[in-house]
Amino acid sequence: MKKIFTLLTLALCALTLTACGGGAPAKSSGGSSAPAPKTEAPATDRKAADASSGKRALVVYFSRADENYNVGYIEKGNTRILAEMIAGATGADTFEIKPAKPYPKEYTPATEVAKKEKNDNARPEIVGTMPDVSKYDMIFLGYPIWWGDLPMPCYTFFDKVKLEGKTVAPFCTHEGSGLSGTDRYIADATKAKVTGALEMKGTTAQKNRDEAKKEVMDWLKKLGYVK
Ligand SMILES: Cc1cc2nc3c(=O)[nH]c(=O)nc-3n(C[C@H](O)[C@H](O)[C@H](O)COP(=O)(O)O)c2cc1C
Repeated sequence: MKKIFTLLTLALCALTLTACGGGAPAKSSGGSSAPAPKTEAPATDRKAADASSGKRALVVYFSRADENYNVGYIEKGNTRILAEMIAGATGADTFEIKPAKPYPKEYTPATEVAKKEKNDNARPEIVGTMPDVSKYDMIFLGYPIWWGDLPMPCYTFFDKVKLEGKTVAPFCTHEGSGLSGTDRYIADATKAKVTGALEMKGTTAQKNRDEAKKEVMDWLKKLGYVK
């Protein structure tokens, strides 16, 4: 019950933040059948060309394991499950956006840290060698909805890796907020061409993998990445 209340509060606060910011958050400049995603530097030696499309793709994602809404303590984050499905289906390379300072393992403290970061328009430090995106035609960008927005480490990534002129296909997991306008936030922050976003409940990704896989494959078909 307490968690339901907390999530409702999150959703309401997220709406309020969006309303106050005039549609966009204040100055937000900001992957299994596949092999486990690389958590630091992306593979540079692997061809990320999908045999059917010939396009080279990179899956960039942020995802948090540990305690989360409606799923208890999880070993693999909800968004990461989708990231791995996408990489498995397309042969894309992967890059995980990892904060230098991990978020608290418990859900409520994690929401509090994330709320402060959003209010401060923070750019939390991220680790690893950033990917050379010049090699890719398509960036699949995955993240959970946090306070109606992307987690702030995603904006740190946007500051470090220039996506202007790239095609970005966002995929997000959430617990009711949907995309929350994050496709626009990504376009504003990166000047990338943002195309057909996928949104899915985190609980579906975590607990109903067959349904999640079907939705991912349908989406990839629409984007022309699988037949
Ligand atoms: C800090 C935090 C803030 C969240 N804010 C929202 C929100 O505003 N709207 C929503 O629908 N879900 C919200 N959620 C739920 C997550 O979006 C959802 O559980 C997601 O699937 C988590 O993905 P992950 O396991 O890949 O991190 C929030 C969760 C956390 C931890």
